Amino acid sequence: MNADDLAEIARSMGADDKGLVAIDESIGTCNRRFAALGIPDTADRRRAWRELIVTTPGLRQSISGAILCDETIRQETSHGASFVSLLDRVGILPGIKVDAGTIELAGHPGEKITEGLDGLQARLATYAEIGARFAKWRGVIAVDTDRPSRGCVEANAQALARYATICQQVGLVPVVEPEVLMEGSHDLPRCAEVTEAILRAFFRHADEQRVMLEAMILKPNMVLSGLDCANQEDADTIADATVNCLLHTVPAAVPGIAFLSGGQSGELASARLNTMHLRFRGLMPWQLTFSFGRAIQQPALEIWGGRDDRAQAAQAAIRHRAGCSQAARRGLYDASNEIRRFTGMAC
Ligand code: 13P
Repeated sequence: MNADDLAEIARSMGADDKGLVAIDESIGTCNRRFAALGIPDTADRRRAWRELIVTTPGLRQSISGAILCDETIRQETSHGASFVSLLDRVGILPGIKVDAGTIELAGHPGEKITEGLDGLQARLATYAEIGARFAKWRGVIAVDTDRPSRGCVEANAQALARYATICQQVGLVPVVEPEVLMEGSHDLPRCAEVTEAILRAFFRHADEQRVMLEAMILKPNMVLSGLDCANQEDADTIADATVNCLLHTVPAAVPGIAFLSGGQSGELASARLNTMHLRFRGLMPWQLTFSFGRAIQQPALEIWGGRDDRAQAAQAAIRHRAGCSQAARRGLYDASNEIRRFTGMAC
């Protein structure tokens, strides 16, 4: 795959106001979310849940790509098709989470580094052979008065840049996810400062590591107050802080920026993305879209509860949240229309 082909795939991931759905939770995280709802934590139920999502009728109208995990990309659906062939059939690009999770960063108590660079090229080549078109790697940055340290920011930024180049070398579009966590009592300006620091560091390392900016997608957090901060800002303040932070740090050559939801409700994530588009329409050089996990999945997971007889209702909820996210890209999301939830109509 040449550079132009890769850049075309990256552009297509944000075309037609579409975004990504992240269904790449590790087995442990998926099991924890299942356990909270009394769903059996078996490989079969994880497969059934992910099959339900990607077979949601009409999903392709708002979703361009789905991020799978290693377990899912090797599983077959109930009809004996691989997830990759199923996604290909419905016109959604298959992607794969390729980091190996986080560990404590040595010498930096309370901070994390993402593992998985050793042997990555060979693993990516296997995923490309299976049919993945893009990959994802998540770095995690915790915030308090002393964190993140410079060492943590630099180590994660360099790992993300090295991962991105390796992806491009084997013909996969890298989705680069430096996540500044919402946990904590920090305020919004502190989140902006930390987000700006990690993005600046990433693009510096991306330059050194020869990442092709035209052939990557950035997956950042929105700039938000910490969950325990007394001062929770309104959507206008969040939109201004987030887009200004991105305008200061993300080169115009990057085709797409797709937000993670990070634990925001679907309604809040949609409302905030919508406000960004209303306030910055025509002023942003990249496609500003979504790559939501919980903000698309959570209401549907609660409806499904592990029961196959509720699959259709759960799919209606998936379609609704994906449609709301797409409406937000158009500046057309209206929270008061959430009542239309299970009709499958965009908001
Ligand atoms: P959330 O939208 O739930 O944060 O998930 C996105 C993701 O890909 C996490 O790695």
